[in-house]
Formats: sequence, structure tokens, C-alpha cells
Amino acid sequence: MMIQTTAIDNLNTLLQEMEAEEVLTYITNKFGNRIALSSSLGAEDQVLTDMLVRVNRKTTIFTLDTGRLFPETYDLIDRTCQKYDIGITIYFPEAREVEKMVNEKGINLFYKSIENRKLCCEIRKIHPLQRAFQGLDAWICGLRKEQSVTRADIQMAEWDEANGLIKINPLIHWTEKEVWDYVEKHNVPVNPLHKKGYPSIGCLPCTRAIFPGEDIRAGRWWWENPDTRECGLHKR
Ligand code: ADX
Ligand code: SF4
Repeated sequence: MMIQTTAIDNLNTLLQEMEAEEVLTYITNKFGNRIALSSSLGAEDQVLTDMLVRVNRKTTIFTLDTGRLFPETYDLIDRTCQKYDIGITIYFPEAREVEKMVNEKGINLFYKSIENRKLCCEIRKIHPLQRAFQGLDAWICGLRKEQSVTRADIQMAEWDEANGLIKINPLIHWTEKEVWDYVEKHNVPVNPLHKKGYPSIGCLPCTRAIFPGEDIRAGRWWWENPDTRECGLHKR
């Protein structure tokens, strides 16, 4: 454990000095087919996809299709694959697990309690994510520090204790403006919902548009307290 902590500290020190694209080049060379980008098709992940295709287009990109995504997100999966001539690997929840959950607790169980909401995220996201992790040593995410109170202390490279692998966040220092400048400059395909007041997009029933001046993640699980608004993908 001690050796591992030191190795990750060293990796973090090295990567911290690099631009996002250099980070992707370095880590995809280092981990080869044992690293993958976990994409929600959000603007940050689309930026990372655009960069990855350029620096190392063989890198696996996967997404967790919860079965409750927006139609616009499904369209974007298709458009992205076509534009870059890549495949995005889809992980889907176990049918039996979903059936049991919705039959016992209701089709829209997530509104009834935090416990229900976490169960739904666990079955529709975390279990498929665990399958996606098989054979991986590291995963790439589009987290940014300024996204929320729960993300202020993330590192470029960190040991993901909950999942037992290394997590790399190449865009941690990026501002929202930098993301959008990149999207425009490189003509990156993005979800049309972003322009309709949805800066952060998850599942349809758990995402609403935000009001001007609201926090960018205010529309995610909006009925909950800001401190609980993580789905368990990014446990700390
Ligand atoms: S969430 O935890 O609240 O859903 P958010 O939407 O901000 O996360 O995305 C943060 C990062 O988590 C994304 O950049 C991506 O790496 C990963 N992620 C979130 N949702 C998914 C998904 N459905 N499939 C794959 N990766 C995802
Ligand atoms: Fe279920 Fe909502 Fe979590 Fe999606 S975000 S997995 S619908 S609780």
C-alpha cells in the first residue's frame, strides 16, 4: 500500500505539470489497453474523446447506459462514433436486477428516498462499471475541481480506493469556459441539451435544467442536499 501511494504521488507530480493532451499521451502509452475513458457524453468527456482520438485512437471508450438516458444522449453516442469513426463500448445493467428493483420499489423509486436513489445508481451504473473495470489498471474521467463542493480536492492522478484502480482526471484544472472554447475550436459534437440549460447531464428523470446563476450541478438529483449529490461512481 505504501509503495502504491508513493507511485501514485509520483505520477501525480509528473502529470500535474502537463497539458491535458500530454497527460492523455503519457498515460495511454504507459497503460496501453489497461486504461479506458469512462464517458457520459458530457461536454468534458467529448473534449477528452476528441483528444484521445488524436493522441491514441485505440484507447477504449466506454459508457454506462442506465436505460434512463435522454434521447439526445443516445443520438450523441451515434453521432460521436460516426464523426470519429470509433466504437463506444456500452455497458448495460443486468435485466434481472432492474426488474427486481422496480417491481419491489416502483419504476421511479429514486424520488422516494436517498436510499432508493442510491440503489438505482448502484444497479444501473456501479454494477455495470465494475464489469467495465475488468482487465483495467486505470480509468480516465472528465471531472473538474470547480464542478462542485464534492470535487474541490480531486487530484490529476489518484488511487480510487472504492474501485481498486488508478483514476486520472486530465481536466481537473479546466474552467467551464475552457471546455466550451475547446468544443467550438475543434467542432466537437455535444449534447444539444447543454444549450437549453443543462450544463450537467445524467439520467432523464434525475436531471433538470438549471436557472440562471444556479450552480452547474444544481440540476442533478435536485431534490437532494448538495453534499449527497454523487451517484457513487466517484466515491471518496
Ligand atoms: S456523476 O457521477 O454526477 O454522474 P458527472 O455526470 O458529473 O458524474 O460525470 C463525471 C464523470 O463521471 C464523467 O466525466 C465520466 O468520466 C464519468 N461518468 C458519469 N456518468 C457516466 C456514464 N453514464 N458512463 C460513463 N462514465 C460516466
Ligand atoms: Fe437511477 Fe437516477 Fe441514478 Fe439514473 S441517476 S441510475 S435513474 S437514480
